[in-house]
Amino acid sequence: MGNGRGVQFFSGENIPLEMHKARMVQRLRLPTAEERLENIRGAGNNTFLLRNRDVYLDMLTDSGVNAMSEAQYAAMLMADDSYAGSETFYRLEAALREVFDKEYFLPAHQGRAAENILACAFVKPGGVTVMNYHFTTTKALITRYGGSVVEVAADDAIDPRAERPFKGDFDLDKLAAAVDRAGPEKVNFVRVEAGTNLIGGQPLSLGNMREVSAFCRRKGILLVFDASLLADNLYFIKTREAGYADRSLPEIAREISSLMDVIYFSGRKLGCARGGGIVTSDSRAHAAMRGLVPLFEGFLTYGGMSVREMEAMAVGLRETLDLDVISQTPLFVAALGEELEKKGVPVVRPHGGLGCHVDAFRFVDHLPQDQYPAGSLAAAAYLAGGVRGMERGTLSEQRRPDGSETFAQMELLRLAIPKRVFTLSQIKFVADRLGWLYENRRLIGGLAFEEEPEVLRFFFGRLRPVNDWQERLIAKFRAEMPNGL
Ligand code: F0G
Repeated sequence: MGNGRGVQFFSGENIPLEMHKARMVQRLRLPTAEERLENIRGAGNNTFLLRNRDVYLDMLTDSGVNAMSEAQYAAMLMADDSYAGSETFYRLEAALREVFDKEYFLPAHQGRAAENILACAFVKPGGVTVMNYHFTTTKALITRYGGSVVEVAADDAIDPRAERPFKGDFDLDKLAAAVDRAGPEKVNFVRVEAGTNLIGGQPLSLGNMREVSAFCRRKGILLVFDASLLADNLYFIKTREAGYADRSLPEIAREISSLMDVIYFSGRKLGCARGGGIVTSDSRAHAAMRGLVPLFEGFLTYGGMSVREMEAMAVGLRETLDLDVISQTPLFVAALGEELEKKGVPVVRPHGGLGCHVDAFRFVDHLPQDQYPAGSLAAAAYLAGGVRGMERGTLSEQRRPDGSETFAQMELLRLAIPKRVFTLSQIKFVADRLGWLYENRRLIGGLAFEEEPEVLRFFFGRLRPVNDWQERLIAKFRAEMPNGL
């Protein structure tokens, strides 16, 4: 255990000091520039389709790839493998009760599986789900069940330059207007997303959650909390919100939980393992969802998860309440963001959780949105340094029923920072390569679809460059990089 005060900066410099050390490592390789060109072509210019062996720094996501603690590995050995009534289930249930203090726990194999259960139980055709901002899988599932999504974050939540500390907050006037417009009985539920993913890992304040909760209770609307990115959000409440500096993380987590009717999470993020689940004290909501677990996931005491992962998750959930553990990601996000800003690279402000988000609208402002600026930048970042980020822009949207594009409100290249995985020199390498790319940004060209799946196309769609910009970028790189890598 560290000192419990969180990762520290030392000597007044903005260098985060880790409260952990690496005791097992994975060998990495940085492919040559020519290999990178070949690899990104082979992957249809989609970073999801790269093989991990061809990636130097995998910043695609923090999902299921966070470093686990020795206590988590130790717990995995104690797993009780049984179809029904395993002790492992009860240990995970106890850990969740400690964190959230809710009565019932329904296991699911990952976050979107929990969303599927929620959508199946509560989305009625023609109904609306109101939320601060959508997540890709959430919206795809809600629309699949015939519902629609209304987003009510404030207008500046999608402005990368707006400096508000809690850009994930609900705009309460918009929330009230959306509910009035639909009629409260047509609102399937209100969903609060912690650490709001698609606007750049931006947190909500506890004060705002309290108001949203009071509103939903007045209107009799079910309030659902997506806690997948709760760890970062807890950190920001403690460090940014007035009145919470001296409150403990367990107290803050329980206060959030007390405001929510149903909480679900991706255990690939929260709990640093692989799995997910739903907790609630609402017996009617529980009854509406319970039968769907054996139908979609597995029996009620494992829900499609391996018991080893469940044991690791139980330990990981408790570790989420340790400031030394959860402060590392936001401080590394800030470290990368600051290095990038020194080189002029536009990033989402303020630095949030989950990863550093590069603003492709400004980085490649010469590219039209129908050539997928964030997707092009993701391909270019791989070419420049073997760094795998994720497109979070128009590619991640779905086309409208008439086939026209839904242009995303933000075009972001997300460079995720999985928890306790990378060193500061690797972070500096990423900034160095992105800095070089920024100097040469006019060489970056657009992409066009070659193969476009109908649903969640960003996962496995294939694209080609609109001209020979990638060859030209690699030639310039070769001419300027002395070590050739
Ligand atoms: N909700 C949020 C806020 C998420 O970030 C994710 C996953 C999910 C739900 C779905 O969980 O992946 O376990 O099914 N986010 C990943 C990411 C995929 O890379 O940001 P899942």
